[in-house]
Amino acid sequence: MTVRTAEITGWGKCVPPNVLTNHDLEQLVDTSDEWITSRTGIKERRISHVEVSDMAAIAGLHALAAAGKTVEDVDLILLATCTGDSIIPSTASIVQRRLEAWGAAAMDLNAACSGFVYGLAVGTDMIRGGAYKTVLLIGAEKLHYSMDFTDRATCILFGDAAGAVVLEGAGEGAGVLSSDLGLDGSVGHILEVPVDGSKGDRGYPDPQSAGVSMEGQEVFRRAVTKMGESALISLERAGLRLDEVDLLIPHQANVRIIDATARRLGLDESKVFVNIHAYGNTSAASIPVALTEALESGRIEPGANVVFAAFGGGLTWASAVHRWGDRTSPLGASEAALPPTELTTMDLLKPNFDFFGLPERLA
Ligand code: ACO
Repeated sequence: MTVRTAEITGWGKCVPPNVLTNHDLEQLVDTSDEWITSRTGIKERRISHVEVSDMAAIAGLHALAAAGKTVEDVDLILLATCTGDSIIPSTASIVQRRLEAWGAAAMDLNAACSGFVYGLAVGTDMIRGGAYKTVLLIGAEKLHYSMDFTDRATCILFGDAAGAVVLEGAGEGAGVLSSDLGLDGSVGHILEVPVDGSKGDRGYPDPQSAGVSMEGQEVFRRAVTKMGESALISLERAGLRLDEVDLLIPHQANVRIIDATARRLGLDESKVFVNIHAYGNTSAASIPVALTEALESGRIEPGANVVFAAFGGGLTWASAVHRWGDRTSPLGASEAALPPTELTTMDLLKPNFDFFGLPERLA
């Protein structure tokens, strides 16, 4: 086979066990399950007791088992994250160590919530270029680290998770048929975590600027426009019409953004995958987790045209079209799992309360 592109041959996820429900949030801030559900579609999210690299490694092992591969087969690890364990070593490097994937090069990729689709395009081109055969692409986030529970506008939105896929070479007309990546850095400030970086003040003297700062409605408006436009560009590049789309797997940030994007594209809701109610916005992890659940629930059939569409901080946007192969079930399974924890969700949030300040209902 002449390698023309890459295809997804394995998939997996890792969601931490601790749950933070809308009712839990009612005990912390002036909000309600009704407000959060109607404005966002979110019912609960996960709060991790481990690091991003731990979740990423577990998701990676599940994806490798599903592809019938071992860690020895992996020659490149791409980790999409904006909440990595550390700057140096990269979190991808820590994942390489955890997996003992000693033959793999590894790097982090930060395009915020668009990171997984950016990684899909990068991984595909690395395989198409011929230097790499088996790419482990992971999206993993521990967003609760940056959650300020004195700010009800942002603390309800985000959660922690990891999802992963294995990419391998494919011939003409299969796998990733096209992609589109974009960015408008001139409006980067409308969604930011201002002080996490070398321009920030050492020691975070101002906790209020260490959390997520966001102009929610502006992000919303741009997300709907750009996800739709980008999906259309990828479809045109793939030579596909909208009525040939079998499933849209959008970034899960807000169910109203997803619905509005589907309406703009004229896609029936039966062709859109949504699992935001269970996890909230998990940034770069959201699409690979959704893809894994779409496959597990039989929503992807052999030969299906699957469209991925994302937007996120930067402001970034990205889309890709993937034509599924014959196999929609995993070749194998992995027993890998996170270590259990005795800690409650509120125990895990205590460092946030100590740093950002007590939520108003606990103050
Ligand atoms: N509970 C109750 N009321 C709330 C809450 C809350 N949790 N949060 C805000 N409100 C109030 C506001 O104070 C405001 O009250 P007011 O009218 O008295 O001033 C009212 O609700 C409406 O606020 P809006 O901000 O206008 O609400 P909106 O309908 O725009 O929903 C939301 C806010 C959910 C944040 C929405 O704008 C959104 O989803 N935007 C996109 C955000 C997003 O996707 N961000 C992630 C990007 S991906 C990444 O890269 C991380």
